[in-house]
Amino acid sequence: MELKPEHAMQLTVVDHPLVQHKLSLLRAEDTSTNKFRLLTEELARLLAYEATRDLALEPKTIQGWCGQIEVKQIKGKKLTVVPILRAGIGMLNGVLDLVPSAKISVVGLARNEETLQPEPYFEKFVGDLHDRLAIIIDPMLATGGSLVATIEMLKRKGCKEIKAVVMVAAPEGVKLVNEAHPDVQIYAAALDSHLNEHGYIIPGLGDAGDKIFGTV
Ligand code: PRP
Ligand code: URA
Repeated sequence: MELKPEHAMQLTVVDHPLVQHKLSLLRAEDTSTNKFRLLTEELARLLAYEATRDLALEPKTIQGWCGQIEVKQIKGKKLTVVPILRAGIGMLNGVLDLVPSAKISVVGLARNEETLQPEPYFEKFVGDLHDRLAIIIDPMLATGGSLVATIEMLKRKGCKEIKAVVMVAAPEGVKLVNEAHPDVQIYAAALDSHLNEHGYIIPGLGDAGDKIFGTV
């Protein structure tokens, strides 16, 4: 499926060579659970670096070795990372390596294999989302239903600034998210070709949750 330029604008495909190399290793059918987990974490770290590139800074005066100096620090409240259960958990440590004091909000969604609709089963958000950036993490953006549902949960709680970090995106999912929430920028290692008749991304990674948790 072709992605129209207006939808492509809301998607940042991170074409860094390390990202592309690690993604290629992830795509191999014989990648072990252990290796899949490690690569997921490494990719998440690199993608989060890009997703946090425009965080606002503010000046601060500190005592340096040669007297008072002005430095820059991240402005505002600590961000919240929002892993979508289960597979999003696989990306969490990679993101936390970069923002170790981030808050964590958790959303549990299972995609119904027949309807492809996300079925919520858990949510636990940090209390004050109003002036906090939320970064949703989930390896796969397929139909986009899970990401849209998570964005809507966050917005209902008052969250105004949301980004999404995924490893692989399908054009169908990017379009759905863009149409419903054009304010949400998506960061991905790849924009793949299309979804198959079961809603799986082609070429994709297969079932990312099963691979991360070793359920296959
Ligand atoms: C997968 C994936 C996303 C969702 C993407 O999770 O991790 O959350 O599907 O599909 P969508 O864009 O069509 O909504 P799944 O529901 O399989 O659960 P899991 O993480 O527990 O494996
Ligand atoms: N969930 C996955 O894990 N993979 C896909 O390709 C689609 C949904």
